[in-house]
Amino acid sequence: MPKQIYITRKIPEAGLKLLREKGITFDMGLEKHSPSKKDIIKALKKKPYDGVISFLTDPLDAEVFDSCPTAKIFANFAVGYDNVNIEDAKTRNIFITNTPGTSSTAVAEHTVALMLALTTRLVEGDEFMREGKYRGWNPDLFVGTDMKGKKIGLIGAGQIGTEVAKILHYGFCSNIIYSDVCPCVELDKIENTTRMTTEEVLREADIVSLHVPLLPSTRHLINADSLKTMKKTAFLINTSRGPVVDEKALVYALKNKIIRGAGLDVFEFEPKLTKGLIKLSDVIITPHIASARQSARDMMAEVAAKNIISVLENGKAINSVIK
Ligand code: GLV
Repeated sequence: MPKQIYITRKIPEAGLKLLREKGITFDMGLEKHSPSKKDIIKALKKKPYDGVISFLTDPLDAEVFDSCPTAKIFANFAVGYDNVNIEDAKTRNIFITNTPGTSSTAVAEHTVALMLALTTRLVEGDEFMREGKYRGWNPDLFVGTDMKGKKIGLIGAGQIGTEVAKILHYGFCSNIIYSDVCPCVELDKIENTTRMTTEEVLREADIVSLHVPLLPSTRHLINADSLKTMKKTAFLINTSRGPVVDEKALVYALKNKIIRGAGLDVFEFEPKLTKGLIKLSDVIITPHIASARQSARDMMAEVAAKNIISVLENGKAINSVIK
């Protein structure tokens, strides 16, 4: 009997090709928007699928797993997997996999783009032009902040944090300070890089950038107290997961000039934004697109497909997130 899987939303051809080559058939949700848990359950009940390729917007828990007891693997088309109830998967012996390393360059570049957009006041300038307000050169117009030589504080030093550090160290002579549960060998090789506690990073950095997964220990890691610890002139960048920041506390901190500004690609109640956020001019917001490059999406599709193939052929996952 040929293996069959369900894919909750369209993934790039690069991944589908690998599945076809192995004779794995698939049904794919073709809606543009993310399916609800109810939609996923309804789709999974249709056939005895052997596996699923899921998205970071798909809530996966006991109810979903039990709607398709034949599925041995849920391969998340994402690096993050906070959409999955890992305990529920564990007790059912279901493999959960992710796509590590596929989007580090893209996310790191987007992170640096947010930093530069804030320090150069790029978006404010663009809006000003489009509104027809430009009346000629003026030395006081949108005066920004230098990036060169700034102290960059990374909270989380995995693959993305390390890429960010390299771009900033080699391109902008930045001093990197970072906090992580373990020392990062690759980062420590970069001159003038120091590992500190998170509190020290918050206190010393000119720009704080978040690169941690969403875990119970990182939810609201940035809250009213940590924002007060930051310099008044500092910027906060978040390309990790929205709930790492207490967004209400951030809006308060920005309104009251407790910090200088923020660049956000992810949001606590995504896709909703906390009241007041879009009214602030010192904030740049992008719609969770840090990893949105065709090269990254293709690699994500390939890695998800390879995990499906590996589990269905050999009973082993390549990128299991269950330790
Ligand atoms: C994107 O946010 C991802 O986790 O891949």
